Amino acid sequence: MKLVFATHNRNKLKEVQSMLPREIELLTLDEIGCLEDIPETAPTIEGNAIQKAQYVKERYGYDVFSDDTGLEVSILEGAPGVYSARYAGDMKDDQANIDLLLKNMRDKENRKAQFKTIFALCINDEMHTFEGIIKGEITHLRKGEGGFGYDAVFMPEGYEKTFAQMTRQEKNNISHRGRALQKLVQFLKIRIGTLE
Ligand code: IMP
Repeated sequence: MKLVFATHNRNKLKEVQSMLPREIELLTLDEIGCLEDIPETAPTIEGNAIQKAQYVKERYGYDVFSDDTGLEVSILEGAPGVYSARYAGDMKDDQANIDLLLKNMRDKENRKAQFKTIFALCINDEMHTFEGIIKGEITHLRKGEGGFGYDAVFMPEGYEKTFAQMTRQEKNNISHRGRALQKLVQFLKIRIGTLE
């Protein structure tokens, strides 16, 4: 089964590729000739994920899945949320986003936060969504060199290290994206089984 993963993010491609069953041939956006930025203008994380999958299906005709993620901070009333990538501006700069987050959290004791990922799968003209959440807190300082995005300031519940201090495998096992992806993979395995 051929499936496009609608992302230009190489970190995500690597994370996701390692979890998919062998029967799935993963195609990248480059491979199908989609070089443009896909619009993400919906007001919710779920809406953005669906928008991206629909865009690829309608223009390129492939079955496709996409994801959208947001970091939701309790004391900031769920911000940056759906605006996580552009929190500090349109340049989508991870370091500037972290700087702004730490500034806005400087005097805050309640540091509870969660990452939420929605995968949207468009297959045989049906749309399915899968949610993954990990709870944790925002650290006061950056810790660790790995990962991307807000990893250096997010410490998952029950751990003494940030996502940026974990191996890719360690993070995949517990992360928002890993959890949502496990649900997607389960669904695909049933589909593959049914089709055989
Ligand atoms: P996107 O929806 O995956 O493009 O992510 C939205 C924002 O959340 C971007 O700023 C990403 O860098 C950030 N982000 C997404 N996934 C992760 C993650 O696993 N760790 C840290 N930050 C992430």
